[in-house]
Amino acid sequence: MTQVANNIIALPAPQTSGGKPLQQLLQHRRSVREFQQAKLPIKQIAQLLWAAQGITHPQGLRTAPSAGALYPLELYVVAINTESLDPGIYHYQPRQHQLTPHREGEYGKALARAAYGQTWLQQAGAVFVIAARYEKTTVKYGKRGERYVHIEAGHAAENLFLQAEALNLGTVVVGAFYDDEVTNVLQLPADVSPLLLMPVGFK
Ligand SMILES: Cc1cc2nc3c(=O)[nH]c(=O)nc-3n(C[C@H](O)[C@H](O)[C@H](O)COP(=O)(O)O)c2cc1C
Repeated sequence: MTQVANNIIALPAPQTSGGKPLQQLLQHRRSVREFQQAKLPIKQIAQLLWAAQGITHPQGLRTAPSAGALYPLELYVVAINTESLDPGIYHYQPRQHQLTPHREGEYGKALARAAYGQTWLQQAGAVFVIAARYEKTTVKYGKRGERYVHIEAGHAAENLFLQAEALNLGTVVVGAFYDDEVTNVLQLPADVSPLLLMPVGFK
């Protein structure tokens, strides 16, 4: 990991070949809600972010499909117990494959509270938050664009899920939370809505 002057965190380049066969990942994918108390390495965090929304084409196309290639999703990492990120909230920049610091502090407990008290969530090394700027898609597709955004969140979540499985990490999709509380914990911009939380840790 390289930390540059303005605190931008350059992430390790993702592995884009090799790994376990897809059929094996599909067969073994299971929701995990208990995590070992081991620090999540930045290399794994970088790989998971890339799997969810990484750039895979010179024209900016990503790992997950997007209606009209408009890319409404925003990815945040709530670092709880990681090797090299201070506890806090970070925002993924797919184009640069970087994280920008968003908010300092310990937010595992607050996030668990916001998720109807799913306290196990704070045992994760990090919680990946898939959020969206609906306007990016609805400006072209109108009301139907909302459906597209939700479908895309599912694509990104499954990519992240299968990548976690490939890295022998556990995760689960958490959709039960108070939108306003998660928005508040993450201090999301007014036009960004949280859609899914994915706590990740060693199983
Ligand atoms: C949209 C969505 C929301 C979910 N929300 C939660 C949640 O809030 N808490 C939780 O523990 N699991 C949640 N789950 C996980 C499901 O409970 C889980 O996928 C299901 O029991 C099947 O188990 P499996 O994922 O191991 O196949 C959610 C799954 C989806 C797809």
